[in-house]
Amino acid sequence: MKNTLIQAVKADDLPPGAMTCVDVGGQRVLVANVDGVFYATDDTCTHEDASLSSGSLKGEMVKCPLHGSRFSLRTGEPMEDPAEDPLRCYAVTVDDGIVFVEFQAPESP
Ligand code: FES
Repeated sequence: MKNTLIQAVKADDLPPGAMTCVDVGGQRVLVANVDGVFYATDDTCTHEDASLSSGSLKGEMVKCPLHGSRFSLRTGEPMEDPAEDPLRCYAVTVDDGIVFVEFQAPESP
């Protein structure tokens, strides 16, 4: 497996306390700015098909707009029911004002 950095969003477009959903390599990824630190996780809730970026962000916790489960953006872990499974988290790099999300891509043959 090889890591691939994919450009997600301009850092200036996402001030502290803001989050957005971006299409990264055909996948919906939530990118959030928590006090100047950027986090990236899957945007779709692990409970049902809800977009977490349409919910609310408080500190590092994102709250699902559908049934209210809260997830840690740092670990991906759900903090309360009904969601039980963690979100997938992605490494984030900021370079020259651009936020990159790191994916593992299969090696080409
Ligand atoms: S869809 Fe997110 S908690 Fe139900």
